[in-house]
Amino acid sequence: NELVFSGVQPTGNLHLGNYLGAIKRFVEMQERDAQCLYCVVDLHAITLWQDPQALKGQIREVTAAFLAAGIDPKRSIVFNQSQVPQHAELAWIFNCVARLGWLNRMTQFKDKAGKDRENASIGLYDYPVLMAADILAYRATHVPVGEDQKQHLELTRDIAQKFNNDFGPSIQAHGHGEQFFPITEPLIGGPAARVMSLRDGTKKMSKSDPSEYSRIALTDDADAIAQKVRKAKTDPEALPSEVEGLKGRPEADNLVGIFAALRGITREDVLKDFGGAQFSSFKPALVDLAVETLAPINAEMKRLVADPAHIDAVLADGAGRAEAIAAPTLDAVKDIVGFVRRG
Ligand code: AQP
Repeated sequence: NELVFSGVQPTGNLHLGNYLGAIKRFVEMQERDAQCLYCVVDLHAITLWQDPQALKGQIREVTAAFLAAGIDPKRSIVFNQSQVPQHAELAWIFNCVARLGWLNRMTQFKDKAGKDRENASIGLYDYPVLMAADILAYRATHVPVGEDQKQHLELTRDIAQKFNNDFGPSIQAHGHGEQFFPITEPLIGGPAARVMSLRDGTKKMSKSDPSEYSRIALTDDADAIAQKVRKAKTDPEALPSEVEGLKGRPEADNLVGIFAALRGITREDVLKDFGGAQFSSFKPALVDLAVETLAPINAEMKRLVADPAHIDAVLADGAGRAEAIAAPTLDAVKDIVGFVRRG
């Protein structure tokens, strides 16, 4: 049975990369009738300091983005991570499964810790282990994420495999068959697996980029979107008619990829229409498409965040349903590991 899990951090500045690389694909998975859990990963958010005054608002904003994009909280389970204690509990057990050498290879930690590594939080270093716990607490089989999460998904698979091996006899003795944790499949792909900055086609579009012009925020209105696309960096050439022609042209490749993802078509299809076109005619078409797609999401997000009680009720309901799946998994894990627990 397919079980889909994915998460988004409530760290503010949700952008088009988060939408096209993740949230839009969450909706597609829901339409495939898989059981889906979509989590606002607030425990992950605090690996970098968050203003407590702002954090609650950010959690509600990500929830609003999920709902506004089309995630149905009745069909899917929508919740915030800190309300389901099994995430942190399983992360501890996985801390004792994962190896230091594996974590030392994680490039996101190196990027986010920067030069002052001694001052990074232990949580930032341990981030990928908590992510493995998020996924495996539900024994999720599929995880739709952007390209930047590929290495973390590989770590999740390694942890699942090592747990299954290390505790093999105990897993069998408790009647679970050979593979207690599934070897989760990452779902990475499509034209927006890695949306790049509008200011620099070699850098990922990111929440933490100091330039507002580097990203299209989900809260941007039509004017802001138009201005950002107009100012987006490009080269002086016309668009090629074949995808090969985008090689070595990161900014052109990025804008064509964004157009394709917004439309739900391939880069090839975009170039069938726009091959030979100058950016002066392609950019306005991109603005129209982005505004057409994002305006209804933006309006619905505004409506939803105006009613925090409703959002909190959605999260509470989701947390209860999530815990109902995760709690038996944790009970089984504790038995497998050899803990004594209340009956
Ligand atoms: N640029 C991107 N293109 C495609 N997918 C992306 N994702 C993030 N950026 C892009 C995907 O969005 C999901 C949620 O991401 P996250 O909230 O966990 O955090 P993040 O990757 O830290 O977001 P940012 O914007 O990249 O923040 P900073 O500034 O901290 O680097 C994930 O599935 C992610 O792959």
